[in-house]
Amino acid sequence: MALLLRLLALSLLLAVATPIRDVTDACSSQVKDFPHLNSSGIHLTLHHPRSPCSPAPLPADLPFSAVLTHDDARIASLAARLAKTPSSRPTALDESSSPDESLASVPLGPGTSVGVGNYVTRMGLGTPAKSYVMVVDTGSSLTWLQCSPCVVSCHRQSGPVFNPKASSSYASVSCSEPQCSDLTSATLNPAACSTSNVCVYQASYGDSSFSMGYLSKDTVSLGSSSMPNFYYGCGQDNEGLFGRSAGLIGLARNKLSLLYQLAPTLGYSFSYCLPTSSSSSGYLSIGSYNPGQYSYTPMASNSLDDSLYFIKLTGITVAGKPLSVSSSAYSSLPTIIDSGTVITRLPTGVYSALSKAVAAAMKGTPRASAFSILDTCFQGQASRLRAPAVSMAFAGGAALKLAAPNLLVDVDSATTCLAFAPARSAAIIGNTQQQTFSVVYDVKSKRIGFAAGGCS
Ligand SMILES: *[C@@H]1O[C@H](CO)[C@@H](O)[C@H](O)[C@H]1NC(C)=O
Repeated sequence: MALLLRLLALSLLLAVATPIRDVTDACSSQVKDFPHLNSSGIHLTLHHPRSPCSPAPLPADLPFSAVLTHDDARIASLAARLAKTPSSRPTALDESSSPDESLASVPLGPGTSVGVGNYVTRMGLGTPAKSYVMVVDTGSSLTWLQCSPCVVSCHRQSGPVFNPKASSSYASVSCSEPQCSDLTSATLNPAACSTSNVCVYQASYGDSSFSMGYLSKDTVSLGSSSMPNFYYGCGQDNEGLFGRSAGLIGLARNKLSLLYQLAPTLGYSFSYCLPTSSSSSGYLSIGSYNPGQYSYTPMASNSLDDSLYFIKLTGITVAGKPLSVSSSAYSSLPTIIDSGTVITRLPTGVYSALSKAVAAAMKGTPRASAFSILDTCFQGQASRLRAPAVSMAFAGGAALKLAAPNLLVDVDSATTCLAFAPARSAAIIGNTQQQTFSVVYDVKSKRIGFAAGGCS
């Protein structure tokens, strides 16, 4: 019987091990010598959420229409955040778990949908450090991960759930520590307090995804560096985070974000190159960067939500010709640059002009019917079609000169669509358009920079 079990286990192991090894062989986990990286920063490998190289890939059968539906939910929650409308609250932690009655009455403000668009990296936590797969989000601030005993709910994740009892450097944060009050701006929800005086956070992301649990501190390890007393959420009720990630790294402009907590030692900047779904190599770098290689645009300030990264779009050209819209059309809505939105949203007038100009430039290509939120579609695949040169210009002279894969997205095996859509209350520069560029967020100098060829 024991032998039989062993044979069974072995055959399972082999069945699982073979394809995994094939995939990982093709995927480098080492950060290459990218030209935009400065040796004094922390460098992490970044994976596309649908890449087979991701340590926690989304389900392979997730249709692209579902990606777009979640993208729209993220946009809706960003819009609600700017409009400061309240959202519904998730279920509270179980009564028996000790957070007191006050939890039940905490109103939840909206966040952004974690959705399916966010890129993935690894973060070490605890002593001894263990590694966790995390999504990276410039649109939110608090870092959190699923935490045992998962009082209410944890979804399946890649690797074991973080166990605070197994970390000698773990501590929960009391309600009187200032970081507990900082939660209000970091999560847009006020903190609650458990009966044992532990600070309780609630991070909600629209699309009914959220995490709730204990504000905690522990040693964080990134690459070969580590920092003690990093504040993060130890999630006891986690719903709606897609894929097998353990949690989320927040990189927004807020005291509690990973960026700000590391900044006193590393500096107030981070940069990334977002790889395409078929390439393995991208990076997230925190701290110093090589400034000479970028073209910059100022970070615009916006009183609607000062944790998001606003910039000013000033023009778009198609095949060298400016769109036929007034220059004021570009600034008719605030513009956010976001790592987790898949499809760029433009003010309606600008979008219509772009759609017309691209369709005119591709008039020899048979059209296809609209797909979900994308209405400018063509028969064929992006890589085989001749797409016009499209360039997006920003205040100060920075530009994104889009290659075909930044302009068109394949929605199924026979159809490709213009990867832009009309905006509601805010324009968003999404990640399809940022792919393969190095993008630096220099919070200290209040500027965002773009450089081509970031992932190679
Ligand atoms: C790398 O960063 C350091 C510290 O910020 C800076 O002094 C140096 O000039 C940077 N290197 C390059 C090549 O830009």
